Amino acid sequence: MVSYKELGLVNSRELFVKAMAGKYAVPAFNFNNMEQMQAIIQACVETKSPVILQVSAGARKYANQTLLRYMAQGAVEYSKELGFNVPIVLHLDHGADFEICKSCIEYGFSSVMIDGSHLSYDENVELTRKVVDYAHKYDVTVEGELGVLAGVEDDVSAEHHTYTEPSEVEDFVKKTGVDSLAISIGTSHGANKFKPEQCTRNADGILVPPPLRFDILEEIEKRILGFPIVLHGASSVPQDKVAIINKYGGALKDAIGIPEDQLRKAAASAVCKINIDSDGRLAMTAAVREELALNPAEFDPRKYLGPARDALRELYKHKIVDVLGSVGKG
Ligand code: G3H
Ligand code: 13P
Ligand code: ZN
Repeated sequence: MVSYKELGLVNSRELFVKAMAGKYAVPAFNFNNMEQMQAIIQACVETKSPVILQVSAGARKYANQTLLRYMAQGAVEYSKELGFNVPIVLHLDHGADFEICKSCIEYGFSSVMIDGSHLSYDENVELTRKVVDYAHKYDVTVEGELGVLAGVEDDVSAEHHTYTEPSEVEDFVKKTGVDSLAISIGTSHGANKFKPEQCTRNADGILVPPPLRFDILEEIEKRILGFPIVLHGASSVPQDKVAIINKYGGALKDAIGIPEDQLRKAAASAVCKINIDSDGRLAMTAAVREELALNPAEFDPRKYLGPARDALRELYKHKIVDVLGSVGKG
């Protein structure tokens, strides 16, 4: 058992109190490898932003949980070395069961998500309560979820959204004791969040997706006043990155994300944590494809992973400064 506190990490409690008061959201970026972690920390140091480093089940399978934890520990030292002590949360993304959450807590994670959103309401309450009881013994914060996002995440996929039912949130928060709540208001995982036929075209011919259900968010806020809300599936799918990928041999079709103005509005509300993974994947892939296409004789991975890391850092800085508003809040 190692406590996250010994590793220099923090839980999300105080970060969310400040985000709520300051009307911004803390970025939650997924990481699976060294370049992503470096880009996240460089961006957060340069913008003095707090950050939540997220580890998915896919990341644990790909990179190894122990290694990822040591990388997060390294991130604490790396940020100090770069000149700013970034408040870093190490968070389990979409924890599927109690055992995974327990194992991450024992490995030094400072925050876990227990995702019981696919269960019945009562089962979700029971499982979430069990994780909270365990996590709180170690001062680890817990994120729960009510409502189901459309799209694919790990092995679970849902064709349609099941929007969060505002009438359930107060009871859920009270019975489970969670520290934050992920909700479903129209975002979804991955790079294909909307079908073109769901969108309208603006004056410039750009596809504009249907707006998020801010009416549901407002109803939820009223019922659990001052309680931190989390938005998953919040990538915007930058069309310039999609164009570069497709120009250099990619085949991304109908990739449509959440417009950034919608996320800016959400960040100013009770939404205290915004999850972004796919946009980072797009930025990296665009840079790697372009580098390899333009320099076909190159075979040193540093020559394409370096530019990919730079592109990623710029993307994260943009999110922090122009979308989430967490610049200077670390
Ligand atoms: O919510 C899902 C995240 O984007 C992580 O996806 O399991 O493929 O790493 P992954
Ligand atoms: P995106 O696929 O929109 O980046 O969402 C990531 C996420 O919610 C991770 O939990
Ligand atoms: Zn998610």
